[in-house]
Parts: sequence; structure tokens; C-alpha cells
Amino acid sequence: MSLQKTLPRHANLKSTGPRFLAERRILLTGASSGIGRDLALQIAQHGAHLLLLARRQEALDQLTEELRSLGAGSATSLVGDISDPATRAAAIEKIQQDWGTLDLLINNAGVSALGRFSDGDEKTLRQIMEVNFFAYTELTRLALPWLEKGRDPMIVNVGSILGHRGIPHNSEYCASKFALRGWSEAIRPELARKHIDLLLVSPGTTETEFFDHLLARHGDTPWRKQKGIPSAQVAQQIILAIKRRRREIFPNRRGRALVLLNRFFPWLVDKIANRYG
Ligand SMILES: NC(=O)c1ccc[n+]([C@@H]2O[C@H](COP(=O)([O-])OP(=O)(O)OC[C@H]3O[C@@H](n4cnc5c(N)ncnc54)[C@H](OP(=O)(O)O)[C@@H]3O)[C@@H](O)[C@H]2O)c1
Repeated sequence: MSLQKTLPRHANLKSTGPRFLAERRILLTGASSGIGRDLALQIAQHGAHLLLLARRQEALDQLTEELRSLGAGSATSLVGDISDPATRAAAIEKIQQDWGTLDLLINNAGVSALGRFSDGDEKTLRQIMEVNFFAYTELTRLALPWLEKGRDPMIVNVGSILGHRGIPHNSEYCASKFALRGWSEAIRPELARKHIDLLLVSPGTTETEFFDHLLARHGDTPWRKQKGIPSAQVAQQIILAIKRRRREIFPNRRGRALVLLNRFFPWLVDKIANRYG
């Protein structure tokens, strides 16, 4: 009798070597545009099964069609606001009905706001925390029992370099991404006991619709608009990191440089940031 057959499922030995995406069952939030959309398009080519979640029905309908033609094992979508507990429950119910298990949870949906903290309001701060933090934690909580039954399971949390270094005029967003990073770090060892990996992705500026969907904007930022890297490039690096079982990646070189500069010379980064306060 093989070792695999003699062990209960939760006692599976940790897999080593590259992680495969073919036939894997994947829940991806924030799939209707940007990094999420590109991730879906690239993952589909590996023959995975995808359940996509976002609020824009038309964008999701169009994307699921495209994914099927690209070779996805299957592609379905769920329209809803991820900050609504009913949407998260509906996603898990669909997983239970369609798959009975989950191999990969990609928490990617995100929003932001720009402007000084003193010009902002509590409602916006809470909304950002709901989407960028609580939706991640609570969807994960619901998904865990299904991930435990999954094949070589993994959670991918899309954070930001602004979860490593706070900058002015973006305090609500920075707070949400710092919270996400702290929580990700804290639960990684708890997940390791269950053989569930956790990858934290910390992108820098990326060319997406992100800044067209700000929840609030108070004045112009005092710095010039940064040119970002293409979202397809970020998606490509995320897929590589999933396969290579990485724990954290910084897809943008400039973003990684800022994090390093801040680690060794925080006073210098403070000095630069003070100019823009
Ligand atoms: N772009 C950047 O420069 C950058 C840099 C660092 C990190 N990131 C992170 O990357 C992730 C993806 O952002 P992106 O750049 O690809 O921006 P994007 O193109 O605006 O994509 C955001 C996605 O999140 C979904 N979303 C937003 N609020 C939602 C809600 N309440 N419920 C369900 N879905 C929601 C949007 O879909 P619907 O509007 O259809 O709901 C969309 O699919 C975010 O977590 C963001 O913080 C982005």
C-alpha cells in the first residue's frame, strides 16, 4: 500500500518541487481589471479552473468567455462586493457545490484614496480597510476548511510596497497594506502546520485602472505621476512565485529599492517624505 493511501488527507507530506497549476481550482478576487484580469488570462493557459469575483458583471462575463477559449479547465464568475459578508459566503458556497475543495485563494481586490489624512474621513478609511484588509481575512477564514482539503494549497495576498513604507497623502491605503502584511506574516506559520503556503505580493506602481477608481481624492499629489510596470508583468511574476513556492515578492525593481533604502536608511526616506507632507 502506498504511503499516500495509509495517511489521512490532512497528514499529506509537504510537496516540494514546482507547484503545478493545471486542473487546480482557484478563487481570484478583483478579476475584472488590472493585475487580477492579467492573472486570470495567464493562469487559464495552464488549464486551471477559475472562479472570478468582482462587482462589474460585463467585464467578468467577457473575461470568462476569453478564459475558456484560452484553455481554462472551467471559468465561472460571481458578481458582488467583496466587503459584503454575503458575497464572501456565496463564493464559498459555490466552491463547495462546484468543487468541494480549493487549491489556490488569490486575494487581490483593492481600492485606495489620495489626500492628506486631515482632509479625509472615517467612512473612507473604514471602506478601504474593509476591502483591502477585512475582506482578505474573512474570505480566508471561510476558505480555510476547503484549502485544507486542496491539492498543494496556497494563499496569495496582493499587498503593496506601501505595506512596507508609509508615504504621505495615502495614509488609509498604507494602513490597510501594513495590516495585511502583519496578518500575512502572523498566519504563515499557522498555515504551515496545515501545509498551506502563503505568498505576499508587494507590487510598486503598476499600470492599471487603480487610480481611476479612487474612493476619494483631496487635491493633487505633490509628486509627478510615476510610470508603472505593465500589469501583465506583475501577473507573470506572481505565477512564477506560485510555482516556485516563494513567500514574498516585489515585482517592481523601483519598489524593491525603496523598501531596501527604507530598511537601511529610514531617516533618509523620512527626509524625502517630509518634503511632500
Ligand atoms: N496599480 C498599482 O499601482 C498597485 C500597486 C501596488 C499594489 N496594488 C494592488 O494590486 C491589487 C489589484 O489592483 P489593480 O492595480 O489591478 O487595480 P484595478 O485595475 O483597479 O483592479 C482592482 C480590482 O479589484 C476589484 N474590486 C475593487 N473593489 C472591490 C469590491 N468592493 N468588491 C469586489 N471587487 C472589488 C475591481 O473590480 P470591480 O470594480 O469590478 O469590483 C478590480 O477587479 C490591489 O490590491 C492593489 O492594492 C496595485
